[in-house]
Amino acid sequence: MHIKTATFVVSNQDVSKCPENNFPEYAFIGRSNVGKSSLINMLTNQKKLAKTSGRPGKTQLINHFLINEQWYLVDLPGYGYARVSKSSKKTFQKFITSYFRQRKQLVSAFVLIDIRHEPQQIDLNFMQWLGEQQIPFSIIFTKSDKLKPKAIERNIVHYQSILKKNWEELPHYFITSSTKFEGKEELLNYIDSINSSLKNVNPQFD
Ligand code: GTP
Ligand code: MG
Repeated sequence: MHIKTATFVVSNQDVSKCPENNFPEYAFIGRSNVGKSSLINMLTNQKKLAKTSGRPGKTQLINHFLINEQWYLVDLPGYGYARVSKSSKKTFQKFITSYFRQRKQLVSAFVLIDIRHEPQQIDLNFMQWLGEQQIPFSIIFTKSDKLKPKAIERNIVHYQSILKKNWEELPHYFITSSTKFEGKEELLNYIDSINSSLKNVNPQFD
């Protein structure tokens, strides 16, 4: 799939103020600094569509980006940012959990995981929670440019072995690098195939 247009629509902390139309949407979630916003820029070929930063905690709101005037990419704040105060952590948890629980247009979440790191409990817990909420998700391993192919393979095998302890069926996964534009085609084609299947079964997404 080719992205012809990508435009920022709205930012907010309130799921009831998210766009009202019925376009399907895909949300990027994961630890602060994992590369959610950078990935949105990479996929849309725009350097500054989503705000990025070397310091964790940059994205603070639910951000909707309209793609090809047909579907949304949603950039969310990161979790697990230690320097955030307790009260703002609570606010964050509230609006993010409300978003996932209430947002009917959400077709799939993408949980971003830094390919370099050992599996982190916070990510495993979050995926568990998505499963309990019956929210479909895939994994996106990010920053693949930081490791050699052998190490990437080893880390993915290791990650899957951890997931197997709790999951009968493993989630679909992608390997990406926003600096090297890796994984772009695969990810966009995956979204495209879901969008096409939705049109067939659910005219509300047409
Ligand atoms: P929050 O909004 O704070 O939750 O972070 P985020 O997940 O949106 O991360 P962001 O896209 O802002 O990127 C964080 C840092 O990682 C920035 O310095 C990016 O340049 C860097 N980064 C993101 N993706 C990649 C990648 O694929 N490769 C490399 N080398 N660096 C990356
Ligand atoms: Mg961000």
